Amino acid sequence: MTDKIIIFDTTLRDGEQSPGASMTKEEKLRIARQLDKLGVDVIEAGFAAASPGDADAIQSIARIIERSTVCSLARASEKDVRAAGEAIKPAKHGRIHTFIATSPIHMQHKLRMSEDQVVERAVQAVKWALEYTDDVEFSAEDAVRSEMDFLVRIFDAVIKAGATTLNVPDTVGYSIPSLWGERFKDLIARVPNSDKVIWSTHCHNDLGMASANSLAAVMNGARQVECTINGLGERAGNASLEEVVMAIKTRRDVFTCDTGIDTTQIVPTSKLVSSITGYPIHPNKAIVGANAFAHESGIHQDGVLKHRETYEIMRAEDVGWSANKMVMGKHSGRAAFRARLQELGIVLEGEEAVNAAFARFKDLADKKHEIFDEDLQALGSDEEAAQVSEHFRLVAMGAHSETGALPVARVVLNVGGKETHADAQGGGPVDAIFKAIEQIVKSETELLLYSVNNITSGTDAQGEVTVRLSKGGRVVNGQGADTDIVTASAKAYLNALNKLHAGTERAHPQV
Ligand code: KIV
Ligand code: ZN
Repeated sequence: MTDKIIIFDTTLRDGEQSPGASMTKEEKLRIARQLDKLGVDVIEAGFAAASPGDADAIQSIARIIERSTVCSLARASEKDVRAAGEAIKPAKHGRIHTFIATSPIHMQHKLRMSEDQVVERAVQAVKWALEYTDDVEFSAEDAVRSEMDFLVRIFDAVIKAGATTLNVPDTVGYSIPSLWGERFKDLIARVPNSDKVIWSTHCHNDLGMASANSLAAVMNGARQVECTINGLGERAGNASLEEVVMAIKTRRDVFTCDTGIDTTQIVPTSKLVSSITGYPIHPNKAIVGANAFAHESGIHQDGVLKHRETYEIMRAEDVGWSANKMVMGKHSGRAAFRARLQELGIVLEGEEAVNAAFARFKDLADKKHEIFDEDLQALGSDEEAAQVSEHFRLVAMGAHSETGALPVARVVLNVGGKETHADAQGGGPVDAIFKAIEQIVKSETELLLYSVNNITSGTDAQGEVTVRLSKGGRVVNGQGADTDIVTASAKAYLNALNKLHAGTERAHPQV
C-alpha cells in the first residue's frame, strides 16, 4: 500500500508574491488549466481579500476547474475569510486556507496579540470558513520559530473547531531536514486526534533546503506538500513542485508514497509559468533547466550511449522534455491548427480569436519554415495579450541600425482609437523603439527588466521578450514574441503598458 501525497500548488498565490511576478486574470486562468492537466490536487488560486481583481480571478478559476480543489488564502479575520468563501463558491471542490502567526516574534511585534488572543482568533477563523466549505486548512505562520507547546495547543484547538488540514510553514526558510522531520514527528505524536487530519508542509528556500525539508516532513508523516512550479515564491521561493514530485517518484526505495502528478506535463508547465512571469529558468535547475539532461563530458556521453543509466537517474521524456517536434507548417489547415491548440491547453474565446490566431500562424509559417509546439504556445500568449484591452496598439514600426550611425526607429500606434506616430534615436534599435513609444505614451514608468529568450533553436527562431515595468509601486510584466526581436520587444513593451493602463491595486497577505 502506498500513501497518496497531496500536491498543493501555490504558484498563483505564494509564487505571485515573487517581486514582479504578478499575473493578469487571463494568465492565471491559463496556468490554472495547465496545473489541472498536470494533476495537482489543490490549486491555491490567490488571496481573495487582496483586491477585487484577485477575488475575481479566484472565482473565474473556481468556475472552470473540474478536478483540482480550488483554494483561497485568508488571514484569520472575518473580512478575509468571507472574501475567500465568496470567491471559491463556484468551485466543484473549494477550500479556504486561513492562517495566523504563532511565533513569539510575530505575535509580539507584528500582531501585537497574546497567545490566548491568537488561539481564539484561529478558532473563530476556522468556524467562519466552515460556513462556506467543510474543507478548511489552518496554517501556523512562522511555525519554524514557534514554541512547540504553543503549536500543540493551537493545532489541538483548530482540530476541535473543524479544520481538516494543518499546515506547518517554514515561513522564513530557517529549518534543516533533520529538524524539520523531527518537528512533524513530534507534532503528530503530541497533538490529540492528529490522525484525523492531513499534515501539510510549506517550506521556503532561504537556505536552499525547501525541497529537502519538505521531503523530510513527508518521511515523518506529512501527507500534503505545498510547493510551486520552478520554486517561484516570496524571497528565495518555495519548495519546487518538480523536485519534490520527482524525488518521490525516483526514490521509490525510500518513499512509501506517491503523487497523482502526470510528470510528462512538468516541463510544459514550467515553461508556461516562466514565460508568463518573466522569471527565466536557470540552465542548471534540477528537472526543468535546459542542461538538466545534457551530458557534456566525453566520458559521460560515452557512458550514456552505452547504457543510459550510467549517468541518468530519470528519463528526460518522463518529465516532458521532448525533442522539438515539428507539428505544423504553412500547409496545415485551420482544423488541425485548432486541434493542436486544444491539445496544448490553449483556449481562445470565440471564432474571432481563433481566426486572428490562425492568421498570425500563417504569417509566422511564411517567415519560419517549421512551427513547433513552443511557437504555438507563444502564439497563444500573443493572442491572449491582444485580448487584454489594447489601449495602445502597434500599427506599424521600423528600426534601422548601421555601423557608425545612431540607430533610429519609427513607430505608429493607435492610442484609444486615434493613430499617432513618433521617431526616435537610441543606443540600439530596441532602445530607439522604446524611446519612440515613450514619446507617444509618456508613461513615466521605470524599466525593471528586459530579457530575450529564444523559443526554439536556430536563427529563424522566435524571440520571446519580457519587459517588466514599474509605476507608483505597481509592477507588471509584458510579453511579446516574433521572429524579429525588435518587433517582439515593441509588443512586450506595449503589452506591459496595456496591463498598467487596465490594472488594479492588490494587497499583500503577510501585511
Ligand atoms: O510562508 C508562509 O507562512 C505562508 C503562509 C501564508 C502559509 O505563505
Ligand atoms: Zn509561504
